[in-house]
Order: sequence, then C-alpha cells, then structure tokens
Amino acid sequence: MPSAPLSTTGDSSWFVHDRFGLFIHWGIYSAAARHEWVKQRERIPDEDYQAYFDHFYPDLYDPREWASLARAAGMQYAVITSKHHDGFCLWDSALTDYKATRTPWGKDLLRPWVAAFRAEGFKIGFYHSLIDWHHPQFPVDGLHPMRDDEAYRAAHADRDMAQYRAYLHGQTAELLTQFGKLDIMWFDFSYSNRDFGWSRGKGKADWDSETLLQMTRGLQPGILVNDRLELAGDIKTPEEYQPRGWMEVQGQRVVWEACQTLNGSWGYYRDKLDWRSSEEIIRTLIDTVSKGGNLLLNVGPTARGLIEPKAVDRLRDIGAWMRLHSRAIYGCTASDFTPPPDCRLTQNGNRLYLHLFAWPYKHVHLDGLADRVEYAQLLNDASEIKRRVVDPHAQAQNTTMRGTPGTLTLELPAEKPPVEVPVIELFLKE
Ligand code: GLC
Repeated sequence: MPSAPLSTTGDSSWFVHDRFGLFIHWGIYSAAARHEWVKQRERIPDEDYQAYFDHFYPDLYDPREWASLARAAGMQYAVITSKHHDGFCLWDSALTDYKATRTPWGKDLLRPWVAAFRAEGFKIGFYHSLIDWHHPQFPVDGLHPMRDDEAYRAAHADRDMAQYRAYLHGQTAELLTQFGKLDIMWFDFSYSNRDFGWSRGKGKADWDSETLLQMTRGLQPGILVNDRLELAGDIKTPEEYQPRGWMEVQGQRVVWEACQTLNGSWGYYRDKLDWRSSEEIIRTLIDTVSKGGNLLLNVGPTARGLIEPKAVDRLRDIGAWMRLHSRAIYGCTASDFTPPPDCRLTQNGNRLYLHLFAWPYKHVHLDGLADRVEYAQLLNDASEIKRRVVDPHAQAQNTTMRGTPGTLTLELPAEKPPVEVPVIELFLKE
C-alpha cells in the first residue's frame, strides 16, 4: 500500500484527494502587465503606482466564467490573492482605502468571486501577503520598492512594525469572518533569513505568526494553512520547481503542493512569451501526483478581468485530458512500484496508473508486477492491453525477446492514442 503523509492539524483529507487547484494572482499590477513585483522591480514610488489604482476598471470581470473554466479543466479548489505585496485589497476592507471599492470600478471583487467558486462546488482559499509595500508603517527594508532612495529611507526610518502587524491581523480576521467557510489560508511570505546589511528580512516575530496561526485555526476550524508563516503549517509549498520525490520534513513525508506558473509570471505579464505547452503542464500534474503532491496552477487575469487566450487554451487542453484521465489523478498518490523509463506511476488502492510520457516501441516492461495484475486497459478508450510474462530463460532471438524474472510485459498499439499523455490502467489482484 502506498504510504500516507504525516497527519495535519487542518483537514487535508479532501486536499490529498482533489490534487488539482487554480491559483489566481489579480490586482492593480495586472494593469502594469509586467509581473506582480513590478513596483519592487522597477522601484516605482507610490505616486506613480497610483496610476494603476486610478484607472482600474475590470469591466469584463465575471468570476462565474473563471469558475466554469477551472471546473472544465478538472480543478477542484481555488486560491485567489486577497492582497499581494503591493498592498492592494480586492475586498472592501474597513481598515484601508487601498481597495477595489475605491478604484473607478467601485465594487468589491472578492465577494462575487467567493460566491461564484462556491456555487461551482470549489473549495476555496485566500492568498494573503504578509508583506505590504503600500502600508505607511511597513518598514522600508531591502525588498521594499523604495530601498535605494536614501532620502526616503531616512524620512521613513521610524516606521512601526507593531502598527502594521495590527493591520495584518485585523485584515486576516476580516477575511476569516466575512466570507463564510474557507478551506485554505495561503500566507506569503517570510524572509527573516535575508540580511540586507542596512536592514533585515522579516519573519515570524514580525508577523507574530503564532498568534496569526492560532487566530486562523480558531476562526476557521479545519482550515489548511501553508508553510510560509515560518511555522510548519499543514502544506509545504515548493514554487516554480518540481521536487524530485515526495517532500519530507525531518525524514517524514508531508502534505505538499507545488505552485507553478504558465509563463514564469504570477501576475498578468503581457510581453512574457515563454509559455509552457499544455502537454508539459499535464506532465507536471502527473509528476506531482506521482510524488504524493498537489498542483496549484496559476493564471494572472488582465486588468479588464479576463483570463488571456493562451491561458484559456491551456486550461481547455488540460480539461480534455482530465475528462478521460481524471481517475488517474483524483484520489491517487505515489505508488511503491518503480516506474519504467519515461513513465510515472500513480495509484489509488488496487488501481495502478501507468502514465507514458514517451510512447515506446511496442512493449513496456513492468518490473515486479508479473503475477500482480488482473486486467489492463488504456484509460482513454477502455481498450484492453495485452499482458505477457516473457520467459526469462529463453534465449533472445531475431524476433523474440528474453524476459526478466518477475516482469510483466504490456503490448502496445503502434499508434500512440490521440491524447497528450496516454495512461494504462492496471487492476491489481487483491
Ligand atoms: C512568491 C512571490 C510571489 C508569488 C508567490 C506564489 O513568494 O513573492 O509574487 O505570489 O510566491 O507562490
């Protein structure tokens, strides 16, 4: 039996079943259209960044459209940015004017999102930035957009973290109490390990992570919390890399979720053209589940509120694959069997799924499975796949091969099935 991860304080039972979620990075940086860190990267002062706020008018925003797109892609949960590092809030927070309701748009963006995604049956969560490059009391440190402006630094040297902390906790409480049941709280991020010489990074002491976590769990029993408060949390969150195996903490397998972009940016980035192919993303999803993890796949909608066509195409392609193969993803985890070259294995009880990243010449050989399989079929069309155990003692000849002990050999059709990644479903003997 495949092993289970270390148990979590929050309820991860649905999470490790559902496996596939949508990440949404949306804010006024979408108007700059060159990464959600644009304010920081280009050292943009508040006065100039204000242009994105003053012109924010997402007239095509329809979260029901986003939800049905995500549903069709096979996603089961969704996490959206309530506030990113630039400090802009999608909801009508009582603690700031730096929010959607004060832009020309004038309406709350989070509330309709929650309603639409809940209505589609999604589990939902908020990504909430611990960092805030707009708040007047958030200290100017080595990551801050104004970091290189000596005069600005001097004029703002007396910023009071305690005041910002109260704001952070207050807003978190709003999010946890005003939107009904939340399934995930995704805090981002801590960097106390960073030393900028003249300033230091920030971490759990600055956020008072212990209290924040306690409040989160107290207000939303069962909620899952990620690992970026500089506390263990429930979910480990590798970002923009695929771990080589099941993620471990002190030698123990843990619940984990890879978060990945489609083109290297989280926020909408008009001119960034290094898009990943649909096939690569499908392989990433499979790879993740084959290592016992989840995939949180990101889109960055435009400032008019649309998911751009390239992202839509990819979500549709993933959906076409998921329609035929979702049972090789949902409820599945890593298998204890070793996959053949160019393949991944996922497993759900006695169903073992062989994902073929490359289509081999006629045969695929499964070590250790010789007498373990009751039936095998291609998953896309439920067509039988013939199985053989090749005699390990026979001499290999012109047209006959020699087997290896304990190996099951599958006979594949010459033509690769018309799907991005073909999957063979193996029914294991009880
Ligand atoms: C980061 C980045 C960020 C992005 C996120 C997603 O730490 O700061 O912009 O929101 O990770 O995981």
